Amino acid sequence: MRVLVVGGGGREHALAWKLAGERNTDVVCAPGNAGIARSVRTGAVDVADPSAVVALARRERIDLTVVGPELPLDRGVVDCFRGEGLRIFGPSRGAAQLECSKVFAKRFMARHGVPTARYRACARADEAHGVVASGEFGFPVVVKADGLAAGKGVVVAADRAEADAAIRASMEERCFGDAGARVVIEECLVGPEASFFALCDGRAAIPLTSAQDHKRIFDGDRGPNTGGMGAFAPSPLVDAAMQARVMREIVEPVLRGMRADGHEYRGFLYAGLMLTCNGPKVIEFNVRFGDPEAQVVLPLIDGELGPVLAAAADGDASGTTVAFKNDVRVGVVLASAGYPGAVKTGLPIEGLEAAERIAGTIVFHSGTSMKEDRVVTAGGRVLTVVAGGASYGEAIDRAYRAVGKIRFDGMQYRRDIGATVVNQNAQGASGSP
Ligand code: AMP
Ligand code: GLY
Repeated sequence: MRVLVVGGGGREHALAWKLAGERNTDVVCAPGNAGIARSVRTGAVDVADPSAVVALARRERIDLTVVGPELPLDRGVVDCFRGEGLRIFGPSRGAAQLECSKVFAKRFMARHGVPTARYRACARADEAHGVVASGEFGFPVVVKADGLAAGKGVVVAADRAEADAAIRASMEERCFGDAGARVVIEECLVGPEASFFALCDGRAAIPLTSAQDHKRIFDGDRGPNTGGMGAFAPSPLVDAAMQARVMREIVEPVLRGMRADGHEYRGFLYAGLMLTCNGPKVIEFNVRFGDPEAQVVLPLIDGELGPVLAAAADGDASGTTVAFKNDVRVGVVLASAGYPGAVKTGLPIEGLEAAERIAGTIVFHSGTSMKEDRVVTAGGRVLTVVAGGASYGEAIDRAYRAVGKIRFDGMQYRRDIGATVVNQNAQGASGSP
């Protein structure tokens, strides 16, 4: 089987790495990055242009295309492939609204009884200010831009002034462009957060374990939000009973509801959850795998993923299964100085081989490229160093030993990835905050 992985970050490196290690599988990744290019063929493509991706898949005689990031999904790459009779794993443009419009997602959840925070959708700023002023949701209150805002569209506002400022920035100053023309105002939920992943074929879902991301740039969850500074999997908050509950109360109703609404959902489904004292509630959906969550979840899969993705893309994965190893993975993101703001690129990276010589360690590349035969930085998040172990402590130790071998100018990373997991106990998993 010839597989095309669309994208060029750490998530796509993990997907390409997993699939390239399977029987009778040839992987092409586009656009890829310097790390991906070491093990599979890469090709240039504008991922935001569906017809360019289709042309590449035809040229490369691809049997299955797997999409990493949300942008091509929002642009309708899946609809284009299906229109041409080409096989692709991912949601249609209509189904991708679950991530690409928070107003769509909230209305969908309300209609289909999927547990989430109470909310109001507002198309006018005066209306939004009015909802905050009414005190309906108390404080803190959460203000969310409707559309894709590169992870910056959510403000948990401590008081009315902060909420009003968030509404002004989004709706009046349009700091996220049209993505902020509408907002969702919602109640602030309390509880630990975990991410849950499922592989969906339109009718049914295969659970793909859970993970916990570290979104803030600095240790102790301080500083601005990022795309994710590290993750571990599985999350001890999501034990077998909680997983069954999330499948029953969230994932299965989503699949039924999307089908009923005419947007059959095929693809990875990522549910960002808050485990409240009233059970798991959805904070957000993503219509793709997480980054860096994919880098810690995919290495845990025991057996082949390609045949499952192909069957799901065809609309029936019921004859397949996904099994998981019993150990854990921890991933530490190494970022450029200045991230999540503007960064300098083109800086040489040292020590990649030494890091990978540490047993049980993989270095996935996020933003790297080649310059005169050297691997150099090419983005905000540069690498994800992933290590496995029988315990979180062992995996954390290995991951940081590997991190210690790598250097580039201005390299920054969190020292506390996975630190809280050691203290998490079964209490959170049974639903108590
Ligand atoms: P998102 O960009 O939707 O993942 O939201 C970013 C972060 O905002 C989440 O990881 C939560 O920590 C927080 N958040 C979003 N919605 C809520 C909510 N209703 N209650 C409390 N925290 C929230
Ligand atoms: N790590 C969060 C995300 O992929 O959206």
